[in-house]
Amino acid sequence: MVFTDLPYDAGQKAEFARQMFGHIENRTTDLADEILEVDPRSYSDPALARRERAEIFGTVPVVAAHGSQLPEPHDFLTVQLPNNEIVLVRQPDGEVRGFVNICRHRGARLVMDDAGSRRFFSCRYHGWTFAGDGTLRAIAHEPTFGQVDKSCLGLLEVPVEQRHVSSGSWTRRAVM
Ligand code: FES
Repeated sequence: MVFTDLPYDAGQKAEFARQMFGHIENRTTDLADEILEVDPRSYSDPALARRERAEIFGTVPVVAAHGSQLPEPHDFLTVQLPNNEIVLVRQPDGEVRGFVNICRHRGARLVMDDAGSRRFFSCRYHGWTFAGDGTLRAIAHEPTFGQVDKSCLGLLEVPVEQRHVSSGSWTRRAVM
């Protein structure tokens, strides 16, 4: 298979999938007919990396976590995805929601820990505080900001879907 000639049409992708599942089932792999030299730019070309992020990781779901990593309400996990970092948070109703790990004030990284349990996330820079559902709850020195509609400044949410015991995020901005 050659992965650098994107995009493939649906038929080609389906054939690749069939081949891959066949390899998994038969414990085999693809072998070239002869010694194959791989262009090293496949691993280092920034333009190709951008295309991969946009055309592959930006459009298909990516497995980001196993459900068991967030067993209890308010458990969270920061996950680096191809396009950005997200925070996954187990909600009180059992669902998992995901947010871009960026403070809505000036774009600082919001959650520094890899994992834990927390009801609120406070930005270390100026103290803006967000609830686990992404809503902006508190602005430090709020009167100095004038009229701010907090309901418009929640964390940026990414689509997340749980399948079986894994959590998956379907998004153009981030995937899991
Ligand atoms: S950048 Fe987060 S509170 Fe200012």
